[in-house]
Amino acid sequence: MKKAYRIAVIPGDGTGPEVVAEGIKVLKAVSKQSSLDFQFKTFDIGGERYLREGVLVADDEISQLKRIDAIFLGAIGHPGVKPGILEREILLKLRFELDLYINLRPVALFAGVDTPLKGKGPGDIDFVVVRENSEGMYAGGGGFFKKGTPDEIAIQESVNTRKGVERCNRYAFEYCRKRDGKKRLTLCGKNNVLIYESDLWYRVFQELHEDYPDITVNYQHVDALCMWMIKNPEQFDVIVTNNLFGDIITDIGAIIQGGLGIAAGGNINPEGTAMFEPIGGSAPKYAGLGQINPLAAISAAQMMLEYLGENEAAERLLGAIKSVVNEKIISLDAGKMGYSTSEVGDLVVRCLT
Ligand code: IPM
Ligand code: MN
Repeated sequence: MKKAYRIAVIPGDGTGPEVVAEGIKVLKAVSKQSSLDFQFKTFDIGGERYLREGVLVADDEISQLKRIDAIFLGAIGHPGVKPGILEREILLKLRFELDLYINLRPVALFAGVDTPLKGKGPGDIDFVVVRENSEGMYAGGGGFFKKGTPDEIAIQESVNTRKGVERCNRYAFEYCRKRDGKKRLTLCGKNNVLIYESDLWYRVFQELHEDYPDITVNYQHVDALCMWMIKNPEQFDVIVTNNLFGDIITDIGAIIQGGLGIAAGGNINPEGTAMFEPIGGSAPKYAGLGQINPLAAISAAQMMLEYLGENEAAERLLGAIKSVVNEKIISLDAGKMGYSTSEVGDLVVRCLT
């Protein structure tokens, strides 16, 4: 009997459906070679449906998604919808409702990939960012006062609960312990200015460190960390940080690992479900052209296998992705790969065997 996983698929908008199709193709190939079986159920969530039916995410969809083993997401974002609506009412809603409180973003430069960092190679760029994904500036606290008048005031609050900060830091320590890395955890904050938020993060981080004497820790202000990610990325193993800082620094992470063609992430509730996605967005200008790089989505599928505890399959898929990157495609950029979107998916399948 094969071990069966129920995977919700949200192809979404723009190039989402194209890259998700390649991810599924690869997962089916993985299934053929292993004792794993994936049952895919597609959810029509995204900008198209919103424009057609006015529905963002239905309550019933949320409850179905809560019961599923993992979610595979393409992209959410539509040029026909005012910015902010789909992001908040779909992507952030799923993160909040499913309490996907970890955003895990590996940053690894594979052999054969160009990085904009001069003199840096694969051995130098290999770390993981653990981003808090359920509160902070994203909680939406605050408001306007006297909006639209010359006296108007806009207040945007960052919400940091001890529970939220603790579970994120604990996950980061555990992840760092498990990871085959330098056993070094860096807290990224801004405690010289954010005297409440970063103070709580710093205290919780120090307290938890007592349970993890095998992990070396350090602290960096977010602005300095941005410089170090570019100057000396080799110092990092695991970085833990709040929602907004994590959002920003992982874009630096994506570009130094070769760009959005390869960058993937997982939105994880370690006690519940998790959602994996290429972090590049819907790239509407490439939609339907067969030119977008599916490797970020395939890497998201790879992370999903890891999350499901299918380490052997995950390792095999990682090996296949690395071979394709190193030996087959010319560039990771859309339209410059030397192959079409589906051909790149085929190459990964071939390298799996
Ligand atoms: C990301 C994205 C989202 C975020 C946007 C689309 C709301 O940038 O996943 O990093 O800010 O978290
Ligand atoms: Mn982002």
